[in-house]
Amino acid sequence: MKNIQFNAYWVSEESNGSFKGQIAQRPTDDLPQNGVLIKVAFSSLNYKDALSASGNKGVTRKYPHTPGIDAAGTIVESNSDKFQPGEQVIVTGYDLGMNTMGGFGEYINVPAEWVVPLPEGMSQKESMILGTAGFTAALAIHHLLRCGQKPEDGPLLVSGATGGVGSLSVAIASKLGFEVVASTGKNEKTGYLFNLGAKKVVGRADVDDQSGRMLLRAQWAGAIDTVGGNTLATILKSLTTHGNVACCGNVASPLLNTSVFPFILNGVNLLGVNSATTPMLLRALLWNKLAGEWRPDFGSVHVEVVGLEEIHLYIAKILKGEVTGRVVIQHS
Ligand SMILES: NC(=O)c1ccc[n+]([C@@H]2O[C@H](COP(=O)([O-])OP(=O)(O)OC[C@H]3O[C@@H](n4cnc5c(N)ncnc54)[C@H](OP(=O)(O)O)[C@@H]3O)[C@@H](O)[C@H]2O)c1
Repeated sequence: MKNIQFNAYWVSEESNGSFKGQIAQRPTDDLPQNGVLIKVAFSSLNYKDALSASGNKGVTRKYPHTPGIDAAGTIVESNSDKFQPGEQVIVTGYDLGMNTMGGFGEYINVPAEWVVPLPEGMSQKESMILGTAGFTAALAIHHLLRCGQKPEDGPLLVSGATGGVGSLSVAIASKLGFEVVASTGKNEKTGYLFNLGAKKVVGRADVDDQSGRMLLRAQWAGAIDTVGGNTLATILKSLTTHGNVACCGNVASPLLNTSVFPFILNGVNLLGVNSATTPMLLRALLWNKLAGEWRPDFGSVHVEVVGLEEIHLYIAKILKGEVTGRVVIQHS
């Protein structure tokens, strides 16, 4: 394979144990030789990237490292019959950006098994407006639907609604006809959430029950939760009989303190969502849905397009829960 010099956001561990990110010139020879070399045009910023960029060893064990769990670009070289140079592709999840150099570099080198052809009708930039966040929203909705969730069952709650997974969950679920109730800590973003398709907006505190009761008034037929902790516990207590909640994230807490009553008295389902390990068949199916009948109104999603030199500002913002919508990284 050719050895090409490229720019990457390079995170290293300092002698005092802190972590520092900077733009560095890297050779493609230093990438893992996994078989498919891709010139990355766009990546995106996810919460997990911010953890990797700030030294979270649960996400990235070894530094120096280039984060970026998402990438869209063009194949430069391939050792697989399935992919030819010049093809436009997407890579999200698996080990990309965790312990494999990720999309915050202008080149990645990944196994062919991780590569999804860019669906017809979707641009590379649109694929990264979606990125792992949009794919996770689609996966959560897929799990709700497979459990029989229907718009006529009643309202669908989305927590952390102005975030990446939240925004795209609101946009896609409302497009599919669900009456979406968006919960947010950002009162000033109510208009944004209505624009995405939410029918009602509630405050974060409304989904953070402190009463200690085992069950609450049934309010939602289903939910997509990106927050975890007491928010997820509150959702479980507030679902209607046989309601479903797709558990996606843990921005508030990874802990879940609940009782068995929502399950044994109301028959609710707690559905696990793991986008990174989604098998290729389902992965390709969902990406094609996102290009077709599930395609969100991209114009309604708040998107900021930034270069490598600005990433550090957005990493700090997303760690504080201050990002609205999606941050797309455009390589020069
Ligand atoms: N399971 C998977 O495969 C998968 C895939 C992608 C992401 N995730 C997880 O999903 C979560 C969201 O990821 P993301 O990329 O969408 O992040 P994000 O863009 O930062 O969105 C998170 C949103 O959660 C809300 N929030 C932040 N801190 C909070 C707190 N302390 N309490 C309650 N709400 C809070 C904020 O929305 P409001 O201000 O509107 O409340 C924030 O915008 C993360 O935990 C991430 O690791 C999981």
